[in-house]
Amino acid sequence: MRLFDVYPINDINIVRANGSHVWDEKGVQYLDMYGGHAVISIGHSHPYWIQRIEDQLGKIAFYSNSIRIPIQQQLAEKLGKLSEKEDYQLFPVNSGAEANENALKLASFHTGREKIVSFTKAFHGRTSLAVAATDNKNIVAPVNETGNIVFLPFNDEEAIKIFFEKNGSEIAAVIIEAIQGVGGINVATKGFLQLLRQLCKTHGAVLIADEVQSGYGRTGKFFAFDAAGVHADIYAMAKGMGNGFPVGGILIAPHIKSKHGMLGTTFGGNHLACAAALAVLEIIEKDDLIDKAKQRGEYLMDRLKDVDGIQNIRGVGLMIGFDVPDELKDLKKALLERHQIFTGEAKPNVIRLLPALTITEEQIDEFLGALKKAIAAMRTENAATNTSNITHHIKIQG
Ligand SMILES: Cc1ncc(COP(=O)(O)O)c(C=O)c1O
Repeated sequence: MRLFDVYPINDINIVRANGSHVWDEKGVQYLDMYGGHAVISIGHSHPYWIQRIEDQLGKIAFYSNSIRIPIQQQLAEKLGKLSEKEDYQLFPVNSGAEANENALKLASFHTGREKIVSFTKAFHGRTSLAVAATDNKNIVAPVNETGNIVFLPFNDEEAIKIFFEKNGSEIAAVIIEAIQGVGGINVATKGFLQLLRQLCKTHGAVLIADEVQSGYGRTGKFFAFDAAGVHADIYAMAKGMGNGFPVGGILIAPHIKSKHGMLGTTFGGNHLACAAALAVLEIIEKDDLIDKAKQRGEYLMDRLKDVDGIQNIRGVGLMIGFDVPDELKDLKKALLERHQIFTGEAKPNVIRLLPALTITEEQIDEFLGALKKAIAAMRTENAATNTSNITHHIKIQG
């Protein structure tokens, strides 16, 4: 049997990992500035995380949600403390799409309404409602298409005000990434997030912060949304939550009431996933990683400004993006193939940096040195190609 071929992959087989480094089967070391797609928060293969998972595995890995699972409550308490949302409620799931799917469904149950507002360039996942609220027609199957989702321009205060004035009583939820990830690292303004808060409150709609990529300390706050100084009603989380162990969740404001049978999942909140998620929070707390993400992010961002050739550097903490001009369109590939550095991208010309919160200044310097070298080499090669093209042209003309 073959694998269903949906991923354009690099021909690299990673067999070992530690911190911000990974190694392939030939022993070649790579620097991971991509955090395995924003998933690695406390560093690859963190020994405490391994130990906590192994200890739990030796006791019990899974039993269904039909019994009391005290480790779920421990996770809820720790999450409440670190996110400073102790009065919120946790519903654990398994992935980012599942978190958003449940957030949207819950908003509809809570309000009895159908309409959802999403924004241009949003990415919320690939399940039915999550993908319908994603601004990419190529991944929405005919069966996912629904008239219930409206896309408004990101950061456009006038557009959202007008939409709420006309349709406020029909809106179940507004869903937003405070920093768009897949869309290319676009930061929502504080004013825009505050306006969403106010409009949702006035019109009885649920405000959902999709923190699947931007959450868990990556931006120097527990949630990127926190920078606006206002609360969302639901926060969706996944990626950094398990440091590679598949786990997600939603945090739900106290005014949204639960009812038996309203939501459910077989695997969500299993013992092993909770142990992994607790290990992550314990390390984030012990090693002060939220503050470190802020400092290292500022360090990286400041120094990127000195790199000639890249443009429009943006982001917060360790969620950073920049544009590359056409002459450097293969920069990501050059970093990987010539310098053994993984970075992320957003089509058509954005490089995304999403390293582990444990990245060191030395590793950042290593990345910056390689970035400068890669750009210089590409420019020299481009110049050589242009000269040889001109010489060739002159010869033909002659
Ligand atoms: C903001 C955001 N929401 C949701 C998702 C979907 O998460 P998952 O792939 O775990 O379903 C992603 C994944 O990239 C994401 O970046």
